[in-house]
This record gives sequence, structure tokens and C-alpha cells, in this order.
Amino acid sequence: MKSIPINEPLLNGNEKKYLNECIDTGWISSEGPFVKQFEEQMAARVGRKYGIAVCNGSVALDVAVAALDIGKGDEVIMPTFTIISCAAAVVRAGATPVLVDCDRVTWNMDVNQIEDKITPRTKAIMVVHIYGLPVEMNPILALAEKYGLQIIEDAAEMYGQTYQDQPCGSFGTISTFSFYPNKHITTGEGGMIVTDNQLLAKRCLSLRNLCFQPQQRFVHYELGWNFRMTNLQAAVGIAQLERLDEFVVRKRNIGKQYTDLLSDLSGLQLPLAQTDYANNIYWVYGIVLKDEVDFDAKEAMRRLGELKIGTRPFFWGMHEQPVFQKMGLFVEESYPVAEKMARQGFYVPSGMALIDEQIKQVATNLREILQ
Ligand SMILES: Cc1ncc(COP(=O)(O)O)c(C=O)c1O
Repeated sequence: MKSIPINEPLLNGNEKKYLNECIDTGWISSEGPFVKQFEEQMAARVGRKYGIAVCNGSVALDVAVAALDIGKGDEVIMPTFTIISCAAAVVRAGATPVLVDCDRVTWNMDVNQIEDKITPRTKAIMVVHIYGLPVEMNPILALAEKYGLQIIEDAAEMYGQTYQDQPCGSFGTISTFSFYPNKHITTGEGGMIVTDNQLLAKRCLSLRNLCFQPQQRFVHYELGWNFRMTNLQAAVGIAQLERLDEFVVRKRNIGKQYTDLLSDLSGLQLPLAQTDYANNIYWVYGIVLKDEVDFDAKEAMRRLGELKIGTRPFFWGMHEQPVFQKMGLFVEESYPVAEKMARQGFYVPSGMALIDEQIKQVATNLREILQ
């Protein structure tokens, strides 16, 4: 039996055609025309005024935090159950991440825990939509309004997803995306920042480009980064974006097939297909082993690995990260739902190139390892 990788992107649209245009014209750097086009198309897709392409989704968060002037003494409320990029951006800026646990059914941040964590130092809420369902936005928007907080929306995993019919990526003061190959659409490596605020957009543009000054290029008043996206990456991104709707339909179909094949297995908690505000887009197909199963996710992944099935563990909570504990952060904090998810959750192959036969194989093998 051939192995089934955790993710394979689908690059059989106009990717080659647009890449050839880059080669033929010599426009391979960030100065090429596809970058601007991609920025405009991504912003339009989520109903925002400005798009700023960057070289990955992690640095998009760094730029977002810097553009909002979040720094020493400030606090940012965020889920503990997320990728390290979120907390790293805040810590690197000299600010403090303040964590909330996740919801055991949607796996997103528990919105009911946020208000108790707001202090006079709170500057922003970092919303991270996890795995396929959006965060419940209305309570967060209300809190942001009530306490005058900014929203950083990490929509890296949420292409084509909506919350109450409004696109994910449209909710943040600044919202961010990632185009890593496991995302619905990819540029190899890449990221995007979107916003409606012209001043913030200008600041993001400057920060991603070393804060060069238009008047005197090599005189700097602020430190930026080189986080630029190349024309080659944007060429691939435009070709991918052309197919986003088709990809979302396919991802939903992959999710449905897995659920149909696995829902009789009593030991598995499967992703929720829908809530009253969204239908799952299954960025990945996550599975949580219920307590009745006498092994953990690590062992499940080992067993599936022996059967040549690719898997990835769920996120490991920020409060349990040695790197942050060494800094004296999150001392003696406990978030039981995230702790359980980290140990009992993993996801199975769910990339765009996955075929139905492979889905059936994964389901058969999952059944085997549970028996
Ligand atoms: C929610 C979230 N934010 C940020 C990132 C980081 O994106 P990148 O890998 O492009 O740096 C990821 C990557 O998977 C992610 O899932």
C-alpha cells in the first residue's frame, strides 16, 4: 500500500502559466506586477480595502502587532490552543500574551473566558480561527467595542469561510492569512495582511520593507523587516485564488466523507459539521480520542504511521511551552481543555490533492488501530 501524506497541494491550474510569465519577463522579485494584483484580489475576496503581501503567515502577525503599536506593558488576549506564531509575535514585541482556554466542541477560543481577562493594560484580542470553524465573533466584537480594544484576526486557516455570512478576514482591525502548502490556497511560503485602515496599511507596507523612506531611501526612522513576497509566489497565489471556491467545496466534501466513514466509532470525537454561524470548511480533519480509548494521540499517530498514513498532532498550548515557561510566562496556569486536546488530538490527511480512495484507506486504517 502506498503511503498517504498528511498534505499535498493541487497546482494544476494556471500556476505554470503565470510562473512562466515571471520568468519570461524577468519579474521575479517583490517588485513584479503579480504582487499588487494578488494583494488587491485577496483584499477584495474578504471585503477589505487594503492587502499587504508578506513572506509567511507568522511574520504577518509580527507586522500586525507592530503596526498597532503593541509593546511593553500591553496585554493581548488570545487562545492558548494555537500555533506559536501568535504568542511569539506578542512576546517579541515586548507585550504579554494573556491566555484563554478553548471550547471542547469547536476547539476555538472560549469566548466566555475573555471578559474576566481584560485589564487596563489590555490592548487587543487576537482571534485565531482553528481548524475549520470560525471563532464566535459577535461576543468578541461587543467586548472590543465596550473596552475599546483592537482585534487582530488570524484567518490563516479560514480561506473561504464565513461567520454569519461575513468573510473570515473581515473582522480584525488587522487580519492575517498564511499560504503555506497545507492551506486551502498556497504560494509555497507566503502571507497576507488585510485592513480597511489606510494609515495601518501604509504602516504595514513600510514595516515589511525595512521602513525605507520615500524621501531619502536609506535614512530610517523606525526598524522594519524584509518580509516581502516575491512575484513568483504571488503568481502561484493568483492561480490558486482563481480556484478557491472549488477548493472549499472539495474540502467540505473530504470532511463529509471522513465523518460518514467514521461516525460509528464511539471512541472518536469528530469535527463539528456546523454551528448556527458557520459550516465547517475542514482546513484539516481533526480527531480527538475520547477518554474511553486506552491510548493517546501519540500512540494513534505511531500506529497510523506504521500503516503509512501521515498525521500531525494538534497544537500544544502556549502555557505548556518550555520556551515561554523559561521566560516566566504562564506560571502555574492551567487550561484543561487545551491540555486534553494536545494529548488526545491529531489530524489525518486532508490536503487538496487527496483522492476519495485515500480517504477510505485512512478511515479503514483508523478503524483497525482502534480495535
Ligand atoms: C492559525 C495560524 N496562524 C499562523 C500560522 C503561521 O503561518 P506560516 O506557516 O505561513 O508562518 C499558521 C500556520 O499553519 C496557522 O495555522
